[in-house]
Amino acid sequence: MFRKAIRKSIKFVVDPWLRWSYNRYASKDLNIDFFGCKIVVQPRIFHPGLFFSTKTLIYFLKTIEVSGKTMLELGCGTGAISVWAAKMGAEMVASDINPKAIENTRINALNNGVSVKTVQSDLFTNLIPNEYQIVIINPPYYAKSAATIEEQAWYCGVEFEYFHKLFEQLTEKSVDTVVYMVLSEDCDLEKVYSIAKLYSLSMDIVYRRSTILEKNFIFRIATI
Ligand SMILES: C[S@@+](CC[C@H](N)C(=O)[O-])C[C@H]1O[C@@H](n2cnc3c(N)ncnc32)[C@H](O)[C@@H]1O
Repeated sequence: MFRKAIRKSIKFVVDPWLRWSYNRYASKDLNIDFFGCKIVVQPRIFHPGLFFSTKTLIYFLKTIEVSGKTMLELGCGTGAISVWAAKMGAEMVASDINPKAIENTRINALNNGVSVKTVQSDLFTNLIPNEYQIVIINPPYYAKSAATIEEQAWYCGVEFEYFHKLFEQLTEKSVDTVVYMVLSEDCDLEKVYSIAKLYSLSMDIVYRRSTILEKNFIFRIATI
């Protein structure tokens, strides 16, 4: 409780400055080392090294078998996770609504000498959930409308429209497709649970990671 209050006040005080610094920092191509992969982060694409959620997904994936699995990263951003998983032997497909993220992912796959199939798609619109054994998602979760396609990396819509559409599409999946989604304690988890329930889906925590600044959870999404 006390930790949460301190954390919120720190974020509240420094947020505008952090946002300004981040926008400046992220206005050009950045080269980072991400779990042994050389990753270019192109301007305004979600930075996988700066936020806890992407790393939490990697730590989780290290605990399960990905080699030889057909896997989809839905909303791939730079494609850093897809490149890492392809290196680990997964048969990777990476999708995103943002064509610049698709381009960024292609460059990173090429630079790391791995094969990642890319598909531009609004959630599953151009994809079939049952073609994958594992689907991983690091969703946008702030309750605000995105003004640009880049802002869709952060904002899920005032009424959490992203989750309504995602969960509706996931009702079509078979039991053989396992879906994992990372969420932070900063997200309105109760709201997301309640939307999942509307579509008869359950969300069970299968992995947790805490840092001094944030707690992240990996949820397994299944049909009730
Ligand atoms: C939080 S970022 C995560 C990026 C990457 N998976 C990672 O972990 O570093 C969310 C990503 O989802 C994409 N996205 C947002 N809405 C989407 C939608 N409706 N369909 C597909 N991708 C979407 C964004 O463009 C962004 O690249």
